[in-house]
Amino acid sequence: MIEAIYKRRSVRRFLPRPVPQDVIEKILEAAVQAPSAKNRQPWKFVVVRGRERRDMVSAMKTGLQKVRRGESRFTGWEPYIPSAVYTARILELAPVTIFVLNKQGRPLGENLSVPDKIMEICDLESVSAAVQNMSLAATDLGVGSLWTCNIFLAYDELKTWLNTDGEMAAAMAFGYTDKPLPPARREWKNSVLYRGED
Ligand SMILES: Cc1cc2nc3c(=O)[nH]c(=O)nc-3n(C[C@H](O)[C@H](O)[C@H](O)COP(=O)(O)O)c2cc1C
Repeated sequence: MIEAIYKRRSVRRFLPRPVPQDVIEKILEAAVQAPSAKNRQPWKFVVVRGRERRDMVSAMKTGLQKVRRGESRFTGWEPYIPSAVYTARILELAPVTIFVLNKQGRPLGENLSVPDKIMEICDLESVSAAVQNMSLAATDLGVGSLWTCNIFLAYDELKTWLNTDGEMAAAMAFGYTDKPLPPARREWKNSVLYRGED
């Protein structure tokens, strides 16, 4: 597992080679092994493949156009449009995209009480643990992945397209790649504070 942690990198170039169903199921099984706050297991997955990918990306592009025209509720996000367009292109080419939803999620923009906000944070942390499990399991199985949040710029359009309950937390693209990716080098020592002694 430590090996997968170090090997995992974001893959943005996928081969047009399908990911077999049993591999997808292994990735999903790994997802639900994640811990979750109060064992609520708030995750839900929508697996998108084949021709459905075209409609998904079309929904995303519609959302991005609205942001560009200033017609979306995501005003101020215009600088992120080029990166989101690039992400849409990746999703178009990835053989599989799995949307990860927070089943207990509250609609974007809703004013939450402090306890509800804490619950929302905890559920999102739980969902994120599941997402990380997916990307590590995929790495272990020789499948590349990309965790995408640029989907948020087209939140409303993708939510309507998904047509299911739950709030989107992320979309994960999966597929095989022939692009060698070296391990990441991370500076981390400055991010740690020690209190007390061993
Ligand atoms: C929550 C989250 C959202 C991300 N969203 C996107 C995205 O929309 N598009 C993209 O190309 N990469 C996205 N990434 C990938 C990051 O850019 C990437 O993890 C980071 O640059 C470090 O590179 P590495 O994953 O190869 O170590 C996202 C990563 C995370 C954790």
